[in-house]
Amino acid sequence: MRRIPEQLIEDIKAANDIVDVISERIRTKKAGRNYKAVCPFHDEKTPSFNINPERQIYHCFGCGVGGNVITFLMEYEKIGFLDAVRELAQRAGISIPESDGGAGSAEDPVYAANAMARRYFRECRAGPEGDAARRYWQGRGISDEMTEMFQIGCAKPGWDGLLKRAQKEGVPPSVLEEAGLVIERDKGGYYDRFRDRLVFPLLWSGGRVVGFGGRALDDSEPKYLNSPETRVYHKGHYLYGLAQARSALRASREAILVEGYMDTLSLYEAGFHNVVASAGTALTIEQARILSRYADRVFVAYDGDAAGIAAATKAAELLVRLGVKVRIAEFPDGADPDSFVRQSGADAMKEELSRARDFIDFLLGVSPPETAEDREKAAHELLETVASIEDPIKADLMLEKIARSLSIDRGALTRALEARKASASRRSAARADGAPRRGAEAERVVGAAERAAQKGLLGLLLAGGDRALRVREELEPSDFTDPLMRGLAERLMGEEGAGAVDVGAFLDKLSSSEEASVITEISVAASDDDNGGRACDDYIRIIRRSAIETEIGVVDREIETAEMTGDEEKLLARVHARQELARRLRELSAGD
Ligand code: UTP
Ligand code: MN
Repeated sequence: MRRIPEQLIEDIKAANDIVDVISERIRTKKAGRNYKAVCPFHDEKTPSFNINPERQIYHCFGCGVGGNVITFLMEYEKIGFLDAVRELAQRAGISIPESDGGAGSAEDPVYAANAMARRYFRECRAGPEGDAARRYWQGRGISDEMTEMFQIGCAKPGWDGLLKRAQKEGVPPSVLEEAGLVIERDKGGYYDRFRDRLVFPLLWSGGRVVGFGGRALDDSEPKYLNSPETRVYHKGHYLYGLAQARSALRASREAILVEGYMDTLSLYEAGFHNVVASAGTALTIEQARILSRYADRVFVAYDGDAAGIAAATKAAELLVRLGVKVRIAEFPDGADPDSFVRQSGADAMKEELSRARDFIDFLLGVSPPETAEDREKAAHELLETVASIEDPIKADLMLEKIARSLSIDRGALTRALEARKASASRRSAARADGAPRRGAEAERVVGAAERAAQKGLLGLLLAGGDRALRVREELEPSDFTDPLMRGLAERLMGEEGAGAVDVGAFLDKLSSSEEASVITEISVAASDDDNGGRACDDYIRIIRRSAIETEIGVVDREIETAEMTGDEEKLLARVHARQELARRLRELSAGD
């Protein structure tokens, strides 16, 4: 692994304010010293995701995730540490020396294989084999310029063009296979997956290629061939065209969602630069979530056939639940956005989008309720969607729309929705009780107050200064009864000096996300209340008290045994010991 010097990483972190980086991706709102947001890592309605600008960390009190600006980018964009560092460096205009090993040597070799393959497919396109591919895209009304924009290439007809190139460049076939670029033969050896096809690289942030899609140049089957799932390509998390659409989306926060590669290219060509495709899968919740971060309104533009309408309905529903405004464009049967825009032009497409119906009108249009029973059924189906909308205002607006569209009494709908929610929350409460939670084991042995005190003490150790010194003087790591906290106390007490700990840097040294979660939780909470002096005494008292309580428990059992065995001497000694413990306990409690 090529290493980026630690100091450079610190500089890059320092140059990227966590509030800015997160606010560029989700909506944040100032609340006291922190910023709050609806957590992007779990479903929630009320914001429990906190960003602390002082310490440059985030923590979600709902799902427990927490970290610094680098881990945020890693989790949010599903990228590795180095990619995150690189992206932040770029954002801050800091250059990372590509020293030993050259560019990219530190990351997954699958990326390097993909980068090599993209170069190879692009060269094929420039060579004599490229003519057939060029004729193909020109025949479909796509300009050369557009294919440059999407870095389109082509694969030669042979079985081993890429394999040979890889050999020359020293990329082993095993890595090509991990990248999904070659397929292993039954009798050993490999052959190219992509042959005699137009090749669409699947681009991701930072110019990385995660995989490829290849289209047959004629009617041969399969029409499209895609990379399999690999370490870097997860088709349910990938949106084709997002890399190119990003800046247009940032400006308008409106997206056009299509199904296919060619739809994307044609719409882009026609001037719709905010187009992305689910490409090769029904829209997944992960794709919907990614899209919802870039767009407040999505025009779903799927094929005009029955399958397209069904897929559009599902996609729209997922997006509506995430609070995205959805409109569904409808094309004549047999047409898709690609054929439509080529036949009728960009203006007709604009017109089509402006006529696109919202989710409710679309659903009611697809299967218009004729009888009272149909209306009731439609209402229940729509209520299911409303019940899962996170934003209460949006949910309310939708309810009103349903009431109007189906001429159902608004009050009745509201009551039906409340009843549905109540039963859903009873179900989820039942689930939560049964399910083991993070740290559940520790909670069973360690009481809530004690846990809180241990967290508070860790918070004081993080903050540094006199109180941190006091904690170090009064307690040992072994006084922390929760194993997770004990480990953290050990590290923190082992830190040099007694200044404030750089939480962001400390997080990078931790090995588990459980540890990180405790640290970010404490850090976000601690800087919000500042009654440290009194709290310090309280925490220490709670820890001491619970230590004594534990001891009393031990002594009680010893007394029992002494009584049973009739060991008078031992009994007397233990009873005295118990009295002494009880006295100390009273002393400690006197301050309460
Ligand atoms: P379509 O069949 O609608 O393809 O599939 P298309 O984009 O209109 O293709 P053209 O216009 O005939 O060239 C939509 C998307 O589904 C995936 C591809 O991502 C395609 O763009 N798909 C389709 C496959 O992965 N494999 C297939 O065999 C077909
Ligand atoms: Mn098509």
